[in-house]
Amino acid sequence: MRATTITILSLTMLLAACEEEPGKLGIAGKDADGGDQTGEDVDGDGTPDGTDPSVADDPVLSARVVDYNEALRTASLKLVRRLPTLDQIRKVERAADKRTAYVEELDAMLESPAFASRMVKFWRDTMRVGGTDFDTAPTLAAKLMIEGGDFSDIFTLSTGNCPTFDADTGTFAPGDCQSGAPGEAGVLTDPSVMRQFYGNMAFRRTRWVQEVFFCSKFPAEVTDSPTQKEGKDYTSPWAFESIASDPINFQDLSSVVCANCHTTMNHIAPLFANFDADGMWQNNIAVMTPLAPEPVPTELSHWLQPGETTAWRHGQEVADLPALGAVLAEDPGFSECMVARMWNWAMSKEDIITDLATVPYSVLEPHVLDFDAERDLKKTLRTIMTSDDFVSF
Ligand code: HEC
Repeated sequence: MRATTITILSLTMLLAACEEEPGKLGIAGKDADGGDQTGEDVDGDGTPDGTDPSVADDPVLSARVVDYNEALRTASLKLVRRLPTLDQIRKVERAADKRTAYVEELDAMLESPAFASRMVKFWRDTMRVGGTDFDTAPTLAAKLMIEGGDFSDIFTLSTGNCPTFDADTGTFAPGDCQSGAPGEAGVLTDPSVMRQFYGNMAFRRTRWVQEVFFCSKFPAEVTDSPTQKEGKDYTSPWAFESIASDPINFQDLSSVVCANCHTTMNHIAPLFANFDADGMWQNNIAVMTPLAPEPVPTELSHWLQPGETTAWRHGQEVADLPALGAVLAEDPGFSECMVARMWNWAMSKEDIITDLATVPYSVLEPHVLDFDAERDLKKTLRTIMTSDDFVSF
């Protein structure tokens, strides 16, 4: 499939991706087989993608049968990383109400220390950060899940945003990030994340937030009415001239339309720019602009035209990281992405970014609505693992 080749993270490849399929890298707009609903037949089922037969009509899907012992086996391998014990197997097998017996076992696993360790590992992989001195962000995500609180606290906690984890007991201890930022904001002010994703003009940190929590690469904003710039599609809702043209020309059109991605990125990146290479907040911008032969310290005017202010998306101005965190916590894209990541993990899919393992929204919708009600991501995982799709084989 054409899209799955976009796995390399170099800028060249990103540019290529942008040119090929602007705005089509996200979750939305894909049908069940990854075709992009334009009438092609990627899945070869004889119907244009997007008009595929419903589940009820699909002979493969409707032939599935519910098997709670198989579900127990899958859930156990995922949640606690071992096969179910003979006792567990027998219990479900011999129960008059197999579903209740399965759910009891599922709940016991979700409460176990082993599951807490699994979640730390899951978030390390998902966030691409972890290990000695780098574990606080994955630990915070796991802690929020295990404790069943509001998962959007991941962006908003002003204290306790850098907890630690004791793998032997499966317990978490609170801890503050102490990045030096004027206001803490969950993982957005985590020094280990800022250190890991240090890079020119803070674009890598910007990308981290986009890809980990919003499940799509840049470009992140696509307008319904693209305009033409020197014969090329300009697809962003921002004013083309809102971003800098000097010393780096983000309005360049000679190869790709930089502004398709960079209008969004350049309005976000300054928010992360005061963290230095060690991830600590400085009073001044602490990232560099990659000029030849010598990089220079970045100034606000390297990203934005005078008068422009920082923003998450067009029309959503945010002055600092706590303000950004508050907006991210309410962004529907965040709910959808977190649920999609849980779904993919439960269903043994590949990564939503690097492998483009996107999930059609129709599949996720009930779980997204559920998640939005309480923001309890462990509960969402439990609901997925008790859903027909998970327990049918
Ligand atoms: C498809 C989206 C996209 C387009 C189009 C795009 N960029 Fe970027 N750019 C990114 C992303 C994402 C990063 C961060 C990459 C990383 O470090 O992980 C980035 C990083 C950069 C950087 C910092 C690189 C470094 O040294 O770390 C510069 C400078 C830059 N882009 C300039 C441009 C210019 C100039 C153009 C047009 C010729 C352009 N970009 C087009 C997405 C894009």
